[in-house]
Amino acid sequence: MSTYSIFILISFLFGFSSGIEEGATMAAYDTIVVGLGAAGATAAGTLARGGRRVLALEAAARAGGRVRTERCGDGVVELGAEWIHGQFPSRVYDLAIQNNVTVRPQDLTFDIYRSDGARTDCELLNELMMYCLDVMEGLSDKPESLGDLITRKLKEYLQKNRPEVLKNQEFVDNFLDFMNLVVNNYEASNDWKDVSALSAYEELRGHQHMSWHKHGYKTFFEILLNTYNNGPGLPTLDIKFNTEVTNIRWPRDGTGDVVVTCRGGEQYTAPNVIVTVSLGVLKERHTSLFSPGLPSEKINAIQTISIGVMDKIIVTFHENWWPPNIAFFGFVWRGMERGRVGRDDYWMTRIFGASVPMGTDKTLTLWTSGEIAKVIETLPEDVVKRKVVELLQMFMGANVTVPQPTGMMRSTWYTNPFTRGSYTYDNLLMPQHPHIRETLASPLLDTAGTPRVLFAGEATDNTHFSTVHGASDSGYREAVRLLPASKI
Ligand SMILES: Cc1cc2nc3c(=O)[nH]c(=O)nc-3n(C[C@H](O)[C@H](O)[C@H](O)COP(=O)(O)OP(=O)(O)OC[C@H]3O[C@@H](n4cnc5c(N)ncnc54)[C@H](O)[C@@H]3O)c2cc1C
Ligand SMILES: *[C@@H]1O[C@H](CO)[C@@H](O)[C@H](O)[C@H]1NC(C)=O
Ligand SMILES: *[C@@H]1O[C@H](CO)[C@@H](O)[C@H](O)[C@H]1NC(C)=O
Repeated sequence: MSTYSIFILISFLFGFSSGIEEGATMAAYDTIVVGLGAAGATAAGTLARGGRRVLALEAAARAGGRVRTERCGDGVVELGAEWIHGQFPSRVYDLAIQNNVTVRPQDLTFDIYRSDGARTDCELLNELMMYCLDVMEGLSDKPESLGDLITRKLKEYLQKNRPEVLKNQEFVDNFLDFMNLVVNNYEASNDWKDVSALSAYEELRGHQHMSWHKHGYKTFFEILLNTYNNGPGLPTLDIKFNTEVTNIRWPRDGTGDVVVTCRGGEQYTAPNVIVTVSLGVLKERHTSLFSPGLPSEKINAIQTISIGVMDKIIVTFHENWWPPNIAFFGFVWRGMERGRVGRDDYWMTRIFGASVPMGTDKTLTLWTSGEIAKVIETLPEDVVKRKVVELLQMFMGANVTVPQPTGMMRSTWYTNPFTRGSYTYDNLLMPQHPHIRETLASPLLDTAGTPRVLFAGEATDNTHFSTVHGASDSGYREAVRLLPASKI
């Protein structure tokens, strides 16, 4: 080893600052991206395609984050995101089409079942549900919760069109309780009274439920990272999996690089870093993650915005025993059957129904949300399997014996230390803070005004939060911040 290389080694180990070191240990990367979910993979892919040397550090053993495709039978199931919500304009949809990957619309035909297994009232329940979903999409012009809005509108609707139904208080209450669960599954909320009816969320145009079916949502990441169809990846992008970032030290005074430290003690440097970890992860560990700590308005945004939980229980059978051509089965509880459910099994009454995934057959997905989803994540496998069969038998089994599942998979988005929740929603505080997601998104600048720590991720998109396309757009937004116009 020459004296010179020993000097470099020593300056590397002890961080000597000198003119020579400046050139010798110049950061090997232009940008470090923390997290390879939709935001991180889009940011890393965009920068690398623009010629930047990028290092992506991902705590998990795979790319995708809250998109997680798993093999199931001779197809796939999605433990995280399932659909492309809208087509125009969507980076997700566009990339599928440009790469000749066929995505298919799933018609969410609904059928509603009651806890006594009888089919009475089903037409009425379907009609009321469709009405409530329309109300939900229309949103409100006054500050109230989605729960209050839908309850008020439903009562007006019944008064006008079906006054006799309104007199049956138990029926109306049971239906509203069911709708609460439906809304919670959309929003990942615990109760529809926590969700604002005045939301900045905007739907894209086109079909709202485009499915990657047998390809799996993971294909989106293969396309972004250029590994689809045995692609070679991106030459200036290095990816390190199983690499949890524990600290990001950024030079507020403008001298030197950002230093990113990982769980094993490894350190990487670059002039800037894009942080794409979920809002749940920021809530839990922003104080240890950033040195110096975040400015107070950023902390306030992290604390004010809500991230909820939505989980799936995916069960496989040896045959399709349910009626064909229906995508969703909703479960409406009545007081009678609910009263018979023991306290330990209360969670069974908080599953809003089952759906039929498009990526495989012989499989049903049961949906759960909020505080109860957190509980279900911790229940033993055999208990969940047994109770799921009981539940399906109760609602859908009037004419069939529900067979034992041949397999089961569950998501655990809250327990997962690298997500700590499923996605964000607009809570009741949000209308008073119309720019709070922008505050979450704004980069930390050094004294020279140069962005050093940038933020992307689902939660930072004001109008498309809670989606893959919103997360992807946010990653693109931050990549563009670092690229000269000619490279975009
Ligand atoms: C059950 C479920 C169903 C959904 N359904 C849909 C749907 O149908 N359609 C839709 O559009 N959206 C859906 N979503 C939402 C969508 O999945 C998310 O909005 C989107 O995937 C978020 O992407 P992201 O890049 O912001 O965050 P993430 O995907 O969470 O990516 C962040 C990455 O950072 C990593 N990370 C965290 N901490 C660290 C650390 N300390 N060091 C290094 N890496 C770290 C994580 O492992 C993760 O890979 C669903 C989500 C869930 C959970
Ligand atoms: C997609 O298909 C078209 C027409 O067959 C072809 O010209 C194009 O090269 C294909 N694109 C990719 C990315 O495979
Ligand atoms: C069971 O079969 C009867 C008679 O065909 C039918 O009316 C009823 O809707 C079925 N119930 C369910 C839950 O499928």
